[in-house]
Amino acid sequence: MEIRNEIEADFAAVRELHLSAFPAAGESQLVDALRRDGDAVLSLVAVDDGVIGHIVFSHMTAPFKALALAPVAVRADRRQQGVAAKLISAGLELVKAEGWEGVFVLGSPAYYTRFGFNVALAEGFVCQYSGPYFMALALQENGLPETSGPISYAPAFDGLD
Ligand SMILES: CC(C)(COP(=O)(O)OP(=O)(O)OC[C@H]1O[C@@H](n2cnc3c(N)ncnc32)[C@H](O)[C@@H]1OP(=O)(O)O)[C@@H](O)C(=O)NCCC(=O)NCCS
Repeated sequence: MEIRNEIEADFAAVRELHLSAFPAAGESQLVDALRRDGDAVLSLVAVDDGVIGHIVFSHMTAPFKALALAPVAVRADRRQQGVAAKLISAGLELVKAEGWEGVFVLGSPAYYTRFGFNVALAEGFVCQYSGPYFMALALQENGLPETSGPISYAPAFDGLD
């Protein structure tokens, strides 16, 4: 399996992946909208016999250089093999190296805490996803430059149910 940057030739397979991974078309449309708006900062695919996984990190408005992690999907027949973990870890390494300061994610704390995401760290930040499943991760050594304030996801998320 290879993890690499998404290229245009992957778009159709990525769309199919999200359509099959989620119950509705929202996430697939979200990915298209993030690309269209120029808000997809990092889009990685996991490739083996075709595209088996995909992850996007997108621009956020925040008091520091922050990204949102969403969505992530792995083909049903390749789950529970660490594919999502590899996409998440590879993505975090890349955005850290690019100087991004924080990443926010909405998801299961039982899963995302293994990558260093923390519910308490996100508590001071207000957005539509704030709550017990909203987490933050500080990428740089000194932690997040701010611990509270309004944040917002890229406009493409407004169209997500
Ligand atoms: C969520 C998803 C990306 C995980 O992919 P994966 O490659 O199977 O994940 P990994 O192999 O890295 O990790 C599997 C582990 O995560 C756990 N896990 C996966 N999804 C989880 C969830 N939604 N809540 C809690 N735990 C979850 C599994 O129980 C497993 O735990 P373990 O390592 O302790 O056994 C995949 O199940 C998927 O595509 N689901 C449908 C789309 C989706 O819900 N995406 C997430 C929201 S954006």
